[in-house]
Amino acid sequence: MSRPLIDIAGVTHAYQTQTGPLPVLDGLDVSVPEGGFAAVVGPSGCGKSTLTKLVAGLMKPDHGEVWLHGERVKGPRSTVGMAFQNPVLLEWRTILKNVLLPLEIVPTKLSRQEAEDRARHLLALVGLEGFEEKRPSELSGGMRQRASLCRALIHQPEVLILDEPFGALDAFTREDLWQIMHKVKEEEPFTGVLITHDLRESIFLADEVFVLSGRPAHTQFRMKVPSEGPRDLDHLYTPEAAEMLNTLRHQIEIAQGRSAEPAPA
Ligand SMILES: Nc1ncnc2c1ncn2[C@@H]1O[C@H](COP(=O)(O)OP(=O)(O)O)[C@@H](O)[C@H]1O
Ligand SMILES: [Mg+2]
Repeated sequence: MSRPLIDIAGVTHAYQTQTGPLPVLDGLDVSVPEGGFAAVVGPSGCGKSTLTKLVAGLMKPDHGEVWLHGERVKGPRSTVGMAFQNPVLLEWRTILKNVLLPLEIVPTKLSRQEAEDRARHLLALVGLEGFEEKRPSELSGGMRQRASLCRALIHQPEVLILDEPFGALDAFTREDLWQIMHKVKEEEPFTGVLITHDLRESIFLADEVFVLSGRPAHTQFRMKVPSEGPRDLDHLYTPEAAEMLNTLRHQIEIAQGRSAEPAPA
């Protein structure tokens, strides 16, 4: 059997700090097949953002391996698209030019015109048609986050990493973004990892949810989300969704050390 497209296998990592090593990850396993979208949830400070840096090749693990597309990750990868909680768009560039930025950094086969067409297409896909020439400060938080998503996708990355991208948005804007994510995934298929602290978000968007333990984190629990959903907002209020959320919430409590009970069967 071939390797999953994203394969984080037995990864252990410690930061060197002034007071000595801080073990953050301890034998972490996360794998995502091609076209899959995994959500990673876990207590604050358990090592989720560290995990994203290892996948992007921005850091090397002390032990274990990170594989992307059958290749061992040994340094920064331009084929990874990333979006964060804070969209960090450049104020002196228009939205369109912000979305095009990665193509000025990583090699592209697209002509200037093709790149611009693609950026406009992505912006339209997330509902930002007409905002191409605006500056970031002229957009709402949710719109900036949508632009940031377009920027992460512009170079057709083999892997999309989203680190709590909707965490700072109000609940209604966040739900809008979830629906936009479904549309984007349909039209621009990607293999992705979504870091989130929102359990509803995890089962709404992902096809598998990984719960990390407290620091140093290992994979404490994984749960597949059935392909049929919840894929629209009403489905988040069905008994099936409630049961999934309950199971995950219980796992988070264990990860936080608030419950020692085994998960309900
Ligand atoms: N560059 C760094 N140097 C030292 N400690 C760090 C560094 N980056 C993160 N940490 C620490 O490592 C732990 C995990 O951080 P992080 O991966 O950001 O957690 P999460 O994203 O799950 O909240 C935290 O305790 C954090 O303070
Ligand atoms: Mg983080």
